[in-house]
Amino acid sequence: MRRLVEAAMERIAKHVDTLAEQPATSTEGGLRLARSLAEPLPQDGTPFPKLLDLLFDRAVPRSLNTAGPGYLAYVPGGGLLHSAIADLIADSVNRYVGLFSSAPGLAQIEANVLAWFREMVGYPPEAGGILTSGGSLSALTALITARRERLPENFLSGVLYWSDQVHHSLEKAALLAGFPAANLRKLPSDERFRLRVDALEAAVEEDRRRGLTPFLVVASGGTTNTGAVDPLEEIAESARRHGLWLHVDGAYGGFFLLTEEGRRLLRGIELADSVVLDPHKSLFLPYGTGALLVRDAGALRRTHSIAADYLPQSRDDQDQVDPSEMSPELTRPFRGLRVWLPLKMHGIGPFRVELEEKLALARQAAEELKTIEGIEVVAEPQLSTLAFRLNPEGMDGDNLNRLNRRLMKAINDRKRVFLTGTKLGDRFVIRICVLSFRTHRDRMEACLEDVREGVKEVRG
Ligand SMILES: Cc1ncc(COP(=O)(O)O)c(C=O)c1O
Repeated sequence: MRRLVEAAMERIAKHVDTLAEQPATSTEGGLRLARSLAEPLPQDGTPFPKLLDLLFDRAVPRSLNTAGPGYLAYVPGGGLLHSAIADLIADSVNRYVGLFSSAPGLAQIEANVLAWFREMVGYPPEAGGILTSGGSLSALTALITARRERLPENFLSGVLYWSDQVHHSLEKAALLAGFPAANLRKLPSDERFRLRVDALEAAVEEDRRRGLTPFLVVASGGTTNTGAVDPLEEIAESARRHGLWLHVDGAYGGFFLLTEEGRRLLRGIELADSVVLDPHKSLFLPYGTGALLVRDAGALRRTHSIAADYLPQSRDDQDQVDPSEMSPELTRPFRGLRVWLPLKMHGIGPFRVELEEKLALARQAAEELKTIEGIEVVAEPQLSTLAFRLNPEGMDGDNLNRLNRRLMKAINDRKRVFLTGTKLGDRFVIRICVLSFRTHRDRMEACLEDVREGVKEVRG
């Protein structure tokens, strides 16, 4: 066992130490590689070093460098090594943490993590939550919980509201939860890409007139497109008046609550009925850790608690929560440890400092982009995301969008950073999302240099 861990560690350390020098993208030939790796069920074993070679020499290098400092695409994940060590421990002891009584000390560790998140959101003690595999599963659990709490068994008249900037996982969750597509209202956003509360009000009233049941509104605590934060306090007030369940998607932006600026922007999050946070985004953890918090923990329990003869009797104990009674999962990994270990080892301070740095880096990038002739910052950073495009005079529509796709390719071809684009209405824009604890000033300067070079290249 020691030999296995040491051999793996040697390769991991070499890989992680060189993340900054590795290209930001390296997927060329990846499909050919994938085909060459397809194989039938192995009948015989292969020595471990050969398998490490396959992974580290062949498979890992042909990929997006998602853990590296140049990954400014989509919403970057992290990859804190402390969590990998926690996983090694959790998987090695393989204790069951679905029931508090099976491993009380370990279950308490996970409960602590959820209590810390509850405090960050500003929820009361009766709030509770679960750790999930990510934002999408958290959203699905939230929507089903809301549906079971607020609508009758036949819920088909229930209507859900969100802005045209909402993450698609919400639409997916609603459809998986059984709502007809016709019951989903995508409302317009304002010039800063935030949900328009007047549009929400009008849509709710119109649906009520039609005999439908306005039921739930999603507010984004940081959109994927531009990092926009919806006006949470105003939406909460509207939700209260109309009896809507308020769900806040803080998968990207939630942990900015640790910063002063984030707390100001996210004011009102504590009024939500449910909140999603994604430690594998703004807490820098490796992929596979999401969180759902619900203002009334009882709602999670009522939705998910089903008795079985072969299990201990269900307990309704605030201090000893059984995660299996609060979530769709019965057998589950011990996710709490991968959050707990880095937070315990570092304390929360360094996380706050990192997030403040990301806010500053995005603001600086926006200012510097504006000094490049022809560049328009379409979405100023509210958090650590911004969107821009090259907008030379006399060009518009598809031609302009094509030009910007070429610009993005020219930037990415330099392989120091990887950026992705999106559509804001008809406009194709290039996004920069700064969220990795490995991204600092030097990489952002490289990014700006590559934008400048890219602009020269596409303008000929
Ligand atoms: C705002 C937002 N919500 C939800 C999600 C979905 O989270 P996950 O990818 O963890 O399922 C994402 C993913 O990027 C996101 O950016």
